[in-house]
Amino acid sequence: MSDNTLSSRLYPTRIDIPAERRVQIVGILNQTLAATLDLKTQTKQAHWNVKGTDFYQLHELFDELAGELEEFVDMVAERVTALGGYAVGTARAAAKNSILPEFPFDILDGKEYVAALADRFAPYAKHIREAIAKTDDLGDADTADLYTEISRTIDKRLWFLDAHLQAAAIKGENGTFSNKVQQPAAVR
Ligand SMILES: [Fe+2]
Repeated sequence: MSDNTLSSRLYPTRIDIPAERRVQIVGILNQTLAATLDLKTQTKQAHWNVKGTDFYQLHELFDELAGELEEFVDMVAERVTALGGYAVGTARAAAKNSILPEFPFDILDGKEYVAALADRFAPYAKHIREAIAKTDDLGDADTADLYTEISRTIDKRLWFLDAHLQAAAIKGENGTFSNKVQQPAAVR
């Protein structure tokens, strides 16, 4: 059975949101489920393999981020089932359906790991923000609220990651402060 068919499978429920709307909302949530599972395992990958003088603080930070993503996985999957839908959340389904690129396996030090994660938290944050509007337009304020909660945390975590990189991005060539603020590559 294709993931699209699985994602549109609805069980009988007494919830008062029309079935044709729930199918669309569940489709968005299952896309989020795949991306969140993917981002969680990528963040764990960073937690295990990061090297360098900032090892310990990054190892701890990445674990905290992965823990939050694990909670979002459960929240999103259980919103799917609360809507009468079928949660598509195996590792294989996540790898196939995630909007994110695979993690780079050829990086080594802390800054490279932070940049790789920031490059993935940014499109994830965009997906979550778009889902707030989409689910609100579909008349599901509760799912929109769930997305808003995730969005607030992810924006904060993107700040934490970007903050490690911003000083280098705005310093002049001779190491002095420059007012020329640069956009990171991912959002340029
Ligand atoms: Fe650990």
